[in-house]
Amino acid sequence: MTATRPLWCLALSLMLGSLAALPVAAQDKTFTLEAPAALVDSGLLKFILPRFTLKTQTRITLTEPGAGADARFGDSGIVAFAGLDTVWKFDAGDDPDAMRFADWLRSDVGRNTVDSYQVDGVAPFTSEIKVEKVVVQITYDGDALRGEEVSLTHCGRCHVVSDKNRMNSIGSTPSFAVLRTLRDWEDRFQAFYVLNPHPAFTQIEDVTDPFDPTRPSPIAAVEMTLDDLENIMAFVQGIAPADLGRPVQSMQD
Ligand code: HEC
Repeated sequence: MTATRPLWCLALSLMLGSLAALPVAAQDKTFTLEAPAALVDSGLLKFILPRFTLKTQTRITLTEPGAGADARFGDSGIVAFAGLDTVWKFDAGDDPDAMRFADWLRSDVGRNTVDSYQVDGVAPFTSEIKVEKVVVQITYDGDALRGEEVSLTHCGRCHVVSDKNRMNSIGSTPSFAVLRTLRDWEDRFQAFYVLNPHPAFTQIEDVTDPFDPTRPSPIAAVEMTLDDLENIMAFVQGIAPADLGRPVQSMQD
């Protein structure tokens, strides 16, 4: 990527030029965006960002990678689109305007915009995401199959874990596929045992304190090990995030 830097700088200045030319009604709707050079060079951003800006009066300023932008394209966040042999993700951070852009990216309008971008009659990007590609980056090398079993046993009482327990979970409890859409799903799963309601009934060997004898677990306890949790992480990592059309932001903060 460093090799293409001069090109990238050119693309960036072209792009900033075109963005600056747009009428921006509400100055307060704005966020800074960082994107890898390959994506900037592709011309896609120059095509889609002004369309979003026109529609929402949100000004997006591209910054140098590493400059600490509000939001970024890269390998974390919601799956945005695929192209150039990469599944591009978008991380909106905590910026509400950037979250709106995330919604737009996965909306019909946003997807059509991405799909309609052409170079020499060819569309280099697609909003149709193949799940296999999403999973390319393996962070958790636990045993995903074992993770599904453990999840069905321990979590499936309340959560829809996979198609195998779709019918007998508790409806008001978020499914794993929905939780998987959250940009901080890893944090939440890794720490689920300290997040309510789980501490009341969960014991992780060598990690959690025993239940207070005066307040025993109200339900059959979930008893597991950190290895089980590592396997669960490997399993959840491979779950296709529920396609809600938009990320479930009500649950994010
Ligand atoms: C007795 C029911 C029950 C069991 C068993 C259970 N959960 Fe949950 N879980 C819930 C409920 C209810 C919520 C929603 C809590 C909320 O909305 O605040 C939840 C939320 C979560 C969240 C999101 C937490 C947050 O605050 O963002 C994660 C992650 C999670 N569960 C993982 C697990 C895992 C992994 C297991 C199994 C090892 C498991 N849960 C077992 C009931 C359960």
